[in-house]
Amino acid sequence: MSEAVWKKLQGLEKPTLAQLFDSDPARLDTFATELELGEEENSTGIRFDWSKTHLDAAHVAAFEELAAVMDFAGRRAALFAGEIVNTTEGRAAEHTAQRGIGKEESVDLAAMYHHRMAAIVEAIHRGAMGEVKHLIHIGIGGSALGPALAVDALARKGALVDVHVVSNIDGCALEQAFKACDPATTMLAVASKTFTTLETMTNAESAIAWLRDNGVEDPYGRVVALTASPEKAMEWGVDETRVLPFSESVGGRYSLWSSIGFPVAMALGWPDFAEFLAGAAAMDVHFRDADGIDNLPLRAAFADQYYTRLLGCQTRAVFAYDERLALLPDYLQQLEMESNGKSVKMDGTPVDGPTAPITWGGVGTDAQHAVFQLLHQGTNLVPVDFIASIEPGHDQASAHHRILLSNCFAQGAALMAGKASEDPARAYAGNRPSATILLDEVSPVTFGALVAFHEHRTFANAVLMGINPFDQFGVELGKEIANKIEQGGTTFDPSTEALLAIAGIG
Ligand code: F6P
Repeated sequence: MSEAVWKKLQGLEKPTLAQLFDSDPARLDTFATELELGEEENSTGIRFDWSKTHLDAAHVAAFEELAAVMDFAGRRAALFAGEIVNTTEGRAAEHTAQRGIGKEESVDLAAMYHHRMAAIVEAIHRGAMGEVKHLIHIGIGGSALGPALAVDALARKGALVDVHVVSNIDGCALEQAFKACDPATTMLAVASKTFTTLETMTNAESAIAWLRDNGVEDPYGRVVALTASPEKAMEWGVDETRVLPFSESVGGRYSLWSSIGFPVAMALGWPDFAEFLAGAAAMDVHFRDADGIDNLPLRAAFADQYYTRLLGCQTRAVFAYDERLALLPDYLQQLEMESNGKSVKMDGTPVDGPTAPITWGGVGTDAQHAVFQLLHQGTNLVPVDFIASIEPGHDQASAHHRILLSNCFAQGAALMAGKASEDPARAYAGNRPSATILLDEVSPVTFGALVAFHEHRTFANAVLMGINPFDQFGVELGKEIANKIEQGGTTFDPSTEALLAIAGIG
């Protein structure tokens, strides 16, 4: 049935952005929406402006039909009800329960784990582990990208503890953290859902050795484990009192809200971490309750599908016009590409069109002087998201922020308007789409809502494509082969054999 809707979508007229604005004076009211967050007296919000995309009434109606055909309402209800939505792994996907929205038992369990985490965070702040000035957080993928982003976004003005996130197995990453930390006042957070990930466990062993070699008598006593496999953490050497569990039903790339967020709470303090969860919960409630085009993550997914499936765009770009959000593109790469980079549908049959585009991006204004040439005049059509904050994150002269925002808004305007020229090399075709997400401020509340928005957008895209966003079997084969290389005894293709021989491995 979805084929018929896609056919209809393909057959619809595709007016230019200029035509869309000209023909609909209310376009901004329909496609630019403020979402209020927080309590009335400290109300804050985010503006989601999708008016510079090619969505129009006809496409919206057809995409709403597609959502109905793909049972968006049913799959969303199943997500929030804690049903088995990750069918290939037989699991629920209960990241929203971490924010207090979801199945009652799961919400209660998450609240209990958070209560324990809050107590441990506060005890460490009060000195329960001696003086703690530095925290080396060791994890990879979903166990590192979220904490690194959140700490960078929210703790720049001062952190209760100095956090270093180490993910790469390359020892250079650990050494950089060691250089910045005094072993006598450093604690470790070992973050791994499975507590088996090779990179994380190797880095954790080396960090323990570093503490021991530098006079810490009981290095395991300086470790907090963040995991859905508490027994494995205890077997490895962490005392039960310092193991912070979370549920198996929380996916790795959706786990920032669980105990994986420990370094964020350590850096900011528990009250701010609670605000961060509340911001995400506000987005959950919006996503759960709003319908059709009024649902912001679904609206964004309609536009994503327009560009990926109707126009064949192979990438989408995200530019943070805010240094605090510099790591957002990295975070979104895992969220979107590990979730939706799939070739089979929920029922195991091949997909009937492209799935996740390649997510890439950077920070404005740096990116303007590096990659924007291609966005404005290249042959690839790249839908772009701009993300900015009205409040600056610094105390420098106001010109900095004014120029930053002017540049951000100028890029969207330029992409859309283009510019004619007699000289083809100087002409801009225009009609290039962008969306703008404008935060009132970068605060725990708005940041929580921003991240949750992207989680739900990813889910909504998956539903429209009929795929499961919660498994990631595509990462396994490379891991298997790396293990075989480590173990020795397997013969590989001639190219790989030659590389191994030259590097002296195996
Ligand atoms: O290899 C992919 C992956 O499984 C991600 O999905 C996950 O976030 C990451 O590895 C880390 O896994 P873990 O938290 O179990 O160490």
